[in-house]
Amino acid sequence: MRGELLLLLSAIFPPQGVCGCPEKCICHSSSNSVDCSHRGLAEIPPDLPPQTLTLLLQDNQLRQLPAHAFRSVPRLMTLNLSNNSLSHLAPEVFHGLRHLHVLNLTHNSLLSLESRLFHSLPQLRELDVSFNNISHLPTSLAEPWENLTLFAVQQNQLHYLSRRLLESMPSLRLLFLKDNLWKCNCHLLGLKLWLEKFIYAGGVMDGVICGSPDMWKGKDLLRIPHELYQPCPLPVPHLEPSQGQQHGAAHREVPKPHENRISGERDPVACEVKPKPRPTNLRHAVATVVITGVLCGIVCLMMLAAAIYGCTYAAITAQGHRGPLAQTSDSGKMGGKEVFDHSLA
Ligand SMILES: *[C@@H]1O[C@H](CO)[C@@H](O)[C@H](O)[C@H]1NC(C)=O
Ligand SMILES: *[C@@H]1O[C@H](CO)[C@@H](O)[C@H](O)[C@H]1NC(C)=O
Ligand SMILES: *[C@@H]1O[C@H](CO)[C@@H](O)[C@H](O)[C@H]1NC(C)=O
Ligand SMILES: *[C@@H]1O[C@H](CO)[C@@H](O)[C@H](O)[C@H]1NC(C)=O
Ligand SMILES: *[C@@H]1O[C@H](CO)[C@@H](O)[C@H](O)[C@H]1NC(C)=O
Repeated sequence: MRGELLLLLSAIFPPQGVCGCPEKCICHSSSNSVDCSHRGLAEIPPDLPPQTLTLLLQDNQLRQLPAHAFRSVPRLMTLNLSNNSLSHLAPEVFHGLRHLHVLNLTHNSLLSLESRLFHSLPQLRELDVSFNNISHLPTSLAEPWENLTLFAVQQNQLHYLSRRLLESMPSLRLLFLKDNLWKCNCHLLGLKLWLEKFIYAGGVMDGVICGSPDMWKGKDLLRIPHELYQPCPLPVPHLEPSQGQQHGAAHREVPKPHENRISGERDPVACEVKPKPRPTNLRHAVATVVITGVLCGIVCLMMLAAAIYGCTYAAITAQGHRGPLAQTSDSGKMGGKEVFDHSLA
């Protein structure tokens, strides 16, 4: 009886699913998940079942991962690497994980993330890198990260976050930024403006508590009033102001490949400057033009009205007085009236 059952089982589930489980892991073939958590592992077990969808590797001692580390499990959708000792990720580590939806890298010692890393995971929906030592994130991505809905970088060493990086995540709904070293100077104005829009559109976030300067220490970035928040000083000498203003859109497109290369570096001052001063200047100019136009229009209308009134009055007077009284002055007035009639017609 037992033997028959086993035979039946191994017929339904091919041997790989039953026998192909790594020695130190527990495999759940019904859910295609492999649990290798808390086993003191220093490297990824070599013989993972290729149909694995969920791989739990948290609470181990992984210090680094080789390139193409997950080549043997290309269908992976959830990967948990929480609570290991990873300090650096080579960009090729996650290569081939085209279906990965959730990546958990919390409680490691990561110092930065590179944009090439992001690009190898096109379908990612949730990225949690909270509780690391990350001080730099890419300032932008060459391609948008279309499906990312959750991005968590709580408890790291971040001073700065580029608005353009967040703009590369158009589906973002949940954003966790608490417990970093946010430097609430003029460079963070872009983030402030982006977050206001994000929340207005229904996004959920925790809060950006400033670590510096002293003036804003402990304050939430979003609660600093706009009037008190200093925008950066206007462009640096090598950037011609007229160029910066007129070709703003084109200017944004050009530097992308270059930025990709220097990922992790700060935005140049000019890029984060734009939000406040220019729109107000522009608005002032537009308002001045409009007011001047309106005033001119009114004056013109008044002059026209006065002219018409004058003419009409003159005509009426001329007609009314034509009779007995003013025979003498008639000829002159008639001439004048005729001239006006012609010019009005
Ligand atoms: C991290 O993993 C170690 C075992 O490697 C475990 O003792 C510790 O409790 C875990 N820490 C957390 C925060 O889960
Ligand atoms: C492992 O990661 C997944 C996905 O992020 C998460 O849902 C789960 O709670 C984690 N499991 C543990 C035990 O930390
Ligand atoms: C990642 O794992 C940690 C620890 O297990 C857990 O608290 C956190 O919720 C997970 N993140 C996601 C996005 O599932
Ligand atoms: C985003 O998700 C949709 C729906 O699951 C999918 O069709 C699309 O290919 C994904 N985008 C990318 C860039 O993978
Ligand atoms: C990461 O940061 C923690 C606390 O902020 C610190 O104790 C630890 O030494 C740092 N690790 C590395 C590798 O820098």
